[in-house]
Amino acid sequence: MLVFCNTKKNGGFSFFFFISMSWLGMAIMVVLLSSSTSAAVVSYDHRALLLDSQRRLLISGSIHYPRSTPEMWADLIQKSKEGGLDIIETYVFWNVHEPVQNQYNFEGRYDLVKFVKMVQAAGLYVHLRIGPYVCAEWNYGGFPLWLHFMPGIKFRTDNEPFESAMQKFTAKVVDIMKEAQLFASQGGPIILAQIENEYGNIDSAYGSAAKSYINWAASMATSLNTGVPWVMCQQPDAPDPIINTCNGFYCDQFTPNSAKKPKMWTENWSGWFLSFGGAVPHRPVEDLAFAVARFFQRGGTFQNYYMYHGGTNFGRTSGGPFIATSYDYDAPIDEYGLVRQPKWGHLRDLHKSIKLCEEVLTGTDPVLTSLGPNLEAHVYRLGSGKCAAFLANVGTQSDAMVTFNGNSYHLPAWSVSILPDCKNAVFNTAKITSQANHFEMEWLKPAFKLQSSQQVGDSLNVLQSDWSWVIEPVGISMSTAFTKLGLLEQINTTADESDYLWYSISMDVDKDEPFLSNGSQVSLHVSSLGHVLHAFINGEFAGRAIGNNGNVKVTMDKPITMRAGHNTIDLLSVTVGLQNYGAFFDTSGAGITGPVTLKGFKSGTVDLSSKQWTYQIGLKGEQSSLYGSEGTNDAPWVSGSELPKNRPMIWYKTNFDAPDGSDPVALDLTGLGKGQAWVNGQSIGRYWPTYIAPQSGCSDTCNYQGSYTSSKCQRNCGKPSQTLYHVPRAWTQPSGNTLVLFEEIGGDPNQISFAMRSFGSMCGHVSELHPAPVDAWDSRSEARAMSGPELRLECPSPGQVISSIKFASFGTPQGACGSFRQSKCSSNTALSIVQEACIGLRNCSLSVSIKKFGDPCKGVTKSLAIEAVCK
Ligand code: GAL
Repeated sequence: MLVFCNTKKNGGFSFFFFISMSWLGMAIMVVLLSSSTSAAVVSYDHRALLLDSQRRLLISGSIHYPRSTPEMWADLIQKSKEGGLDIIETYVFWNVHEPVQNQYNFEGRYDLVKFVKMVQAAGLYVHLRIGPYVCAEWNYGGFPLWLHFMPGIKFRTDNEPFESAMQKFTAKVVDIMKEAQLFASQGGPIILAQIENEYGNIDSAYGSAAKSYINWAASMATSLNTGVPWVMCQQPDAPDPIINTCNGFYCDQFTPNSAKKPKMWTENWSGWFLSFGGAVPHRPVEDLAFAVARFFQRGGTFQNYYMYHGGTNFGRTSGGPFIATSYDYDAPIDEYGLVRQPKWGHLRDLHKSIKLCEEVLTGTDPVLTSLGPNLEAHVYRLGSGKCAAFLANVGTQSDAMVTFNGNSYHLPAWSVSILPDCKNAVFNTAKITSQANHFEMEWLKPAFKLQSSQQVGDSLNVLQSDWSWVIEPVGISMSTAFTKLGLLEQINTTADESDYLWYSISMDVDKDEPFLSNGSQVSLHVSSLGHVLHAFINGEFAGRAIGNNGNVKVTMDKPITMRAGHNTIDLLSVTVGLQNYGAFFDTSGAGITGPVTLKGFKSGTVDLSSKQWTYQIGLKGEQSSLYGSEGTNDAPWVSGSELPKNRPMIWYKTNFDAPDGSDPVALDLTGLGKGQAWVNGQSIGRYWPTYIAPQSGCSDTCNYQGSYTSSKCQRNCGKPSQTLYHVPRAWTQPSGNTLVLFEEIGGDPNQISFAMRSFGSMCGHVSELHPAPVDAWDSRSEARAMSGPELRLECPSPGQVISSIKFASFGTPQGACGSFRQSKCSSNTALSIVQEACIGLRNCSLSVSIKKFGDPCKGVTKSLAIEAVCK
């Protein structure tokens, strides 16, 4: 028997209460303090996390606060709550909070206290993953660059300088949270914290020091007395009382390292991240829901979507190399903060279904019965007789009819049905009843044109003035330049203060060199650790080499033209986000480490590698803050009728009015090459619309059946990885906004435009074999048998109503939302019935039955498909 203690202040008295837990064994007591009436005791046992001694089945989702704006947070959190989340999970990003050692920033997008309080205000909990190594496709995995320069430091191992810095930051975050009373033990929303991140994936590279580091991290974390449990993810040897948790596309096979710990899933990847040069990842919701249901089927009690809202890598925050600016992640809430349907809705229905089983699931372990090859039933049954069951078809080929407890159930391949009473299937992971929303980009063209005031329609009204520009000098232009013998590694040189490092050298060419007269050329060879290299000879562009997410190194071999006498070779090396993953990732380096050679001279190959080079960190335009919205009069901006286009190394600026309305806004930067963009001085991120995804590797039809990998079901092959860049509404005012672009490769700013994410139409497609809506679940079993499948539609905004029905068919309609078509089997009353039930209303619901629509073809399973428009 054993015992938990919960202290609650009650009129100045503390009291304990005890619960007995017989079969589960010792529950671990995590917290015993309370200073306010609402303080919660968070503990755990084999079966679940316990909040105030109640075992809980918890659904969590990741939202990283710096990947959106504070103005977006409340809405994102509310949509998460409506989607059925109990918990918001976030990493803490050390590099943005302590950009300079001992100088902290917890303001604006980095206002962690505000974010946590907003989650609390919505009535949700927080899982705070302090790390402070976070990976997360975040620059340098979240480490500040100054850390790299601490004498004697070695990251993520048993190393005193590292451990003391890690402890200091972790304690700082814990103190800030404690001061604001944010831990559950203080009445706050934080019920869980994480130390380190997936170290177990790479710890073998650190030898025996890995073990002592992890033990140190565990005791350091617990010594901070947060009063809530700590987890380590992907750390099979996480010492007690730390809970080791699972990350991955599936975690149903995972078991924690002790029978006293619950089975928890900290990262269920809802999609995948986008790289510049990569295709756009997509994880079908049928598979995501399958993974979640399998996890709960097999004893899981906590799962977190990574990401629930991915957001945007503003500024230079993206890791990499080559992580794109969009961190949409194909998450249930899209980059712009709009619910992605049917992903969001199908998961909401899943969460409701699982929650119906909470008491039974957390009260016992499941018992497995085979229902045939690839067919499994897991039954949870309490002494009270309460029962819940999960039926799975883990086969990838064929649907099955199974018999369970004397009833038969239709199980599509790769699906799980949930039976909260062991009898009625309330949900099947492959049967989507939620509506699909179709958002369209509405292009506001032309947004920027030199003489376009008359061309821009009134309603678009985005242009205020023409472009002005500043030519960024090629090569060395700043007094901070310095010389050094040999080639310098880039990150050690720039400390990542800029993406850019100029390597310059000059050399005299003898007028007798044969290549000057015989029309041949010299060949320039440059070897670089990455990520992008632009070469200029005598101020003229001479060549470019670009790495990719798989191979970041670049090698350039280019014929170049040199002249007799003095020549300058200016090599611009560019980083595109610093490495965030892998053992010793911090030492992977970047930039031109050589050799740099010239072939074709009389004397043979000239090796410049160990010569004297001149270095310049960053651009002149960066130094003079051309991206800022201030000081426009003093700055060297030029304007005129001849806008320079398609030339490398140039800054552009214009003013614009924000597009009307409140729909999210994006800049379509098609027409530009590569660079960075700022709106009113805020960086909206690196842009690179000319980096095209590979031609192959995508599929038009995505079969969700079978194990998912990040390269399955990709989209957008052969197209630019990212053309649209989120401009948060909060960063614009109605008029007089400044847009600054730094263009590195060359492009035409006249081609860019604004685009708005606006709602197109909504669809539903529900068959007679679908379960009744989970909302209709009635605790009285006789009522359950009465209800059947329904198709429900709701306009996304409260002010809207359904204005027209674009398509309605009951029978065997084909196709997908936007391209539904009727087949021969089609009830001729469907359209009028649907119009009657829906037009003029914000939402409507239609029973999917022959009773409602008549039977257009007997003996065939029928479905109802609708596409509707809201106004
Ligand atoms: C995990 C890591 C996350 C993120 C994810 C991929 O391994 O813990 O931080 O990088 O991979 O998106």
